Amino acid sequence: MAIGIIGGSGLYAFAELAVREQLQVATDWGDPSSLLVCGSLQQREVVFLARHGEAHSIPPHRINYRANIAALQQRGVTAILAVNVVGGINGEMCPGDLVIPDQIIDYTWGREHSYSDSATQPLQHVDFSYPYDPHLREVLLQAAIAAGMTVHAGGVYGATQGPRLETAAEIARMGNDGCDIVGMTGMPEAALARELAIPFACLALVVNMAAGLGSAQISMAEIEAVMAERIPSIRRLLAAACSAL
Ligand code: HPA
Repeated sequence: MAIGIIGGSGLYAFAELAVREQLQVATDWGDPSSLLVCGSLQQREVVFLARHGEAHSIPPHRINYRANIAALQQRGVTAILAVNVVGGINGEMCPGDLVIPDQIIDYTWGREHSYSDSATQPLQHVDFSYPYDPHLREVLLQAAIAAGMTVHAGGVYGATQGPRLETAAEIARMGNDGCDIVGMTGMPEAALARELAIPFACLALVVNMAAGLGSAQISMAEIEAVMAERIPSIRRLLAAACSAL
């Protein structure tokens, strides 16, 4: 039994993890984004995977989400904590805040998004009414509160295709749809974990206000500054969450 941690932008390695081995894993779905870094964190077995590759070279629409989730399952992962950076749509979800979403709207297209993909695979219509695991969400929430971070205990994650950012009109429409945050990597990751029956939760870090809602242009420098400031606390928070699982 191990906990899988999927690191997004800004989280490519996990200093707190006492690394035992780094494994190149092959799956029926191809190669995962990075080596699987296996070790212990707070006495728990953890497998870390860098979603965009160790050098942040894989764009959101080219990530092999199926191989990533399958590789974690092959290594015995029975719960996944996924870290994603996002833009804030809800005016209360500001740069530096954490959000633990409870819902998803999927705007992505053309991604390999299911394991039910050929006649040789069983056709599953998995229930996805509530995409995130409530226990994992609660553990993340308590760890974030204990870390003294500003955290929103729910929200709708709108997953867009990227790699470009959205137009202001797209964000206005997403706001009307009920999205609170926007990111490019939340799907199909969460749905694939559900297909494999692996409990999954997302820890989202707001790094900018979404298009049309903050500054006239979204600045990568500002995004990177928020990530640099917050990622160390997020690593500590994840370590605390692992010890509580
Ligand atoms: N849009 C989509 N993805 C993102 C954003 C955004 O504004 N910020 C960080 N990831």
